[in-house]
Amino acid sequence: MVANAASIAEEAARRIVRIARDAVKARGRFMVALAGGATPRATYAHLSQHPLVDQMPWTRTWVFFGDERGVPPEHPESNYRMAYDAFLAKVPIPAEQIFRMRGEAEDLDAAASDYARLLAKAFGTRRGEVPRFDLVLLGIGIDGHVASLFPGSPVVKEIFRTVAAVHAAAAAIPERMTLTLPVFTAAAHVVFLASGAEKAKAVKAVLADGTLLPAGMVMPADGQLEWILDRPAASLLPSRRR
Ligand code: 6PG
Repeated sequence: MVANAASIAEEAARRIVRIARDAVKARGRFMVALAGGATPRATYAHLSQHPLVDQMPWTRTWVFFGDERGVPPEHPESNYRMAYDAFLAKVPIPAEQIFRMRGEAEDLDAAASDYARLLAKAFGTRRGEVPRFDLVLLGIGIDGHVASLFPGSPVVKEIFRTVAAVHAAAAAIPERMTLTLPVFTAAAHVVFLASGAEKAKAVKAVLADGTLLPAGMVMPADGQLEWILDRPAASLLPSRRR
């Protein structure tokens, strides 16, 4: 647990650099799926600033997205636009190594299948295999959703497809596309970022009560799961869990 949102950003950015450098050393590239929403923005901004901007292996970094809202990339609610404005526009990642989910697609099911094919090509996986990201960054919704996997959604139960279109009635933008739990389960590292008192109930439900919410179903089978929380988000956890 860290003190506040600013310290989450610093801690998370340093963590990303460490995982990125280790991945490049071990496998020659860093495959990352970015979280959307507002929380990660400050973390992404840190990556585009000194000293971390010089420590990241940008030319070996391949950027994917954990989910996307059903909007075009220039839309203020686009997760791609948030990441682009926060760091992608400012760092030397080759454009062909940034893989945007096409939230603007008329047919999000087809766009989800296209993205799954793109993942398989990038990772060299065959049908039925799941890409293993070096890092998946995730946030948690106040209802315990993760990426665009919302409580009660049939997509939470997806065991085969790696990417799926979602109709999330509870979300401000219901039409979405998301990576599925098998991808999160296969990851080498999953890092959750949670900031603010409004997340405290969901964090407690997942980390202390074991309530079966989508965020609590992210369990890397052969990888590390970390939560970077600030004091308000951790405020309902028993002291031993902070
Ligand atoms: C999205 C995100 C979503 C997000 C949580 C937390 O597209 O909405 O992927 O899963 O991580 O809703 O969002 P905040 O960081 O804005 O609280």
